[in-house]
Amino acid sequence: MVRPLRADIDLEALRHNYCLARDLAPQSRSLAVLKADAYGHGLVACARALETLAPALAVACIEEAEVLREAGITSPIVLLEGFFTADELACIDALELWTVVHSDWQVEALLAFRPSRPIPVWLKVDSGMHRLGFTPPRVPALWERLAGAGAQVCDLHLVSHFATADQADTAYFQGQMRTLEALAAELEAPTCLANSPATLSHPRAHGDWNRPGVMLYGSDPLEVANAVSRRLKPVMTLSSEIIAVRHLAAGERVGYGGRWQAQRASRIAVVACGYGDGYDRHARDGTPVLVEGQRAGLAGKVSMDMLTVDITDLPEADIGSRVTLWGRAANGVVLPVDEVARYCDTISYTLLTGVLPRVPRRYHDA
Ligand SMILES: Cc1ncc(COP(=O)(O)O)c(C=O)c1O
Repeated sequence: MVRPLRADIDLEALRHNYCLARDLAPQSRSLAVLKADAYGHGLVACARALETLAPALAVACIEEAEVLREAGITSPIVLLEGFFTADELACIDALELWTVVHSDWQVEALLAFRPSRPIPVWLKVDSGMHRLGFTPPRVPALWERLAGAGAQVCDLHLVSHFATADQADTAYFQGQMRTLEALAAELEAPTCLANSPATLSHPRAHGDWNRPGVMLYGSDPLEVANAVSRRLKPVMTLSSEIIAVRHLAAGERVGYGGRWQAQRASRIAVVACGYGDGYDRHARDGTPVLVEGQRAGLAGKVSMDMLTVDITDLPEADIGSRVTLWGRAANGVVLPVDEVARYCDTISYTLLTGVLPRVPRRYHDA
């Protein structure tokens, strides 16, 4: 007997989504953002699926890059948060990584280092995100220093991140763009600016490189979907089975706290998936699931290993019926992870990266 919960990963869909990002920006090179275990999809499997398509990969830190190199991935890899201590520079050199620098101490450490060959460096500008990076007035002097350090630095780029590229109101985004365009023009600097929403909806942000992440996994980051974001295909399907069915009289309650109360005689399915697997405990009553490809709604609080679904209107649903928590059901119906996220007051990123190791991943390729 095997617990029926699993995450199916469609690597063909991953490549389809990558190609959408790439083809939207033919003047740019699009790297593939694979941090956080490829947004929960499996770092090495996703890197292997994309390595012949994507000219570079991006991760958050050296530990993630090491996993890729140990798996034999030879593509250029960018460290989006750079290095955390100066002694990581030896590793960056040995593994031939590219690094972001966002802080003064990193610049000093880099310039004091003697690499075996110059390191490709992306200088981070804080153009309005106010997270990592140098304020715009400081950038020209830093650029000049790094550009003059030929023994340590090569392929210098400006990199920045957008705070609101997903939003329909573009005023803040346009402000960040004006700052970045002025700097890039002054320094004649190549750039890497666009995340998924900017790749999808702001050609103005397409630089020498783009950095799509979540769209590769089939999630639409835009507040208002567009023609291309609607063509994204889900990569992960999280699914399980009904393991028990309860018959409740009107007035009876389900689960912890008795949050859901039957308004009529009801059939409740118990599904083997819970917050101990990464399914969000904040999911509200009515959060959609697909039972054999047909919509039904969550009824009651999510438990550690189980959740409960109202199947009163699905008389064929029974023990053993397949339940899709998000992704594509066997009949082709899609339940977008973005829709589930809205019912949990969160974003697809947290649901996808939150699927825990006890959920087996199964990879599918054409
Ligand atoms: C610096 C940086 N670049 C790119 C990305 C990719 O963003 P998205 O997944 O929205 O495409 C992220 C994601 O968090 C990021 O932090």
